[in-house]
Amino acid sequence: MNLVKHIAIIMDGNGRWAELQDKKRVKGHEAGAKIVKEVTTYCSHNKEIERLTLYAFSTENWKRPRLEVEFLMKLLDNYLKNELEVYLQNNVRFEPIGDIRAFSKSLQKTVKMVEQKTAHCDALVQSLALNYGAQDEIIRAVNSLKNSKADITVQMLSNALDCKHNVDLLIRTGGDKRLSNFLLWQAAYAELFFVDTLWPDFSVKELEKIVKKFKKVERRFGGLK
Ligand code: IPE
Ligand code: IPE
Ligand code: MG
Repeated sequence: MNLVKHIAIIMDGNGRWAELQDKKRVKGHEAGAKIVKEVTTYCSHNKEIERLTLYAFSTENWKRPRLEVEFLMKLLDNYLKNELEVYLQNNVRFEPIGDIRAFSKSLQKTVKMVEQKTAHCDALVQSLALNYGAQDEIIRAVNSLKNSKADITVQMLSNALDCKHNVDLLIRTGGDKRLSNFLLWQAAYAELFFVDTLWPDFSVKELEKIVKKFKKVERRFGGLK
């Protein structure tokens, strides 16, 4: 049976969830934040799961209306401040990926504060992908290596990425079957699960069902079984 050490999730469908109930899209983001907490707590209590990487804001999400972007920034700031206690209680290390230099100074400060205060925690690493795009991540990594005298190896590039860990299981909620610029390098051999459930309706129960299916998949990594 496969070990599930690193789960990555494209948390999609917040806006549609809200629109279906005649609510504003931002209500969907609020409801989505609650599921982040539930899923993170569950993963922190599961000894096999070491990393949970969640797509929270992409390098392309800046194209959204200004008010939605501003709401998401505020929600993130509040979420991190409120959750700090919960991270510590559950022994969860918070490790952002993405280029947060585009965020306001105060939001950058919150992100760094939670990262520092949870640095000693070791039950789970929860990575939020913030202003994250895999292409941007790879380009920043390549640029950081461009003065290297030796030819760049797979290991060198891997180590220069924000997320240095291969993904075992990649889930996308919301019904679309695409990666939307998420972990393109790290998902090279990930098992992909696309579910119709909109993110605010996702649950630990559904995650458990997916993990059960994942465990039975024959992962060959190009070899033979
Ligand atoms: C995902 O939900 C959350 C973010 C991208 C921040 P969406 O906001 O993309 O929801 P839909 O896909 O429009 O329903
Ligand atoms: C991907 O969802 C980004 C996040 C979940 C943060 P999007 O809703 O932005 O992706 P597209 O536009 O449908 O590809
Ligand atoms: Mg979407």
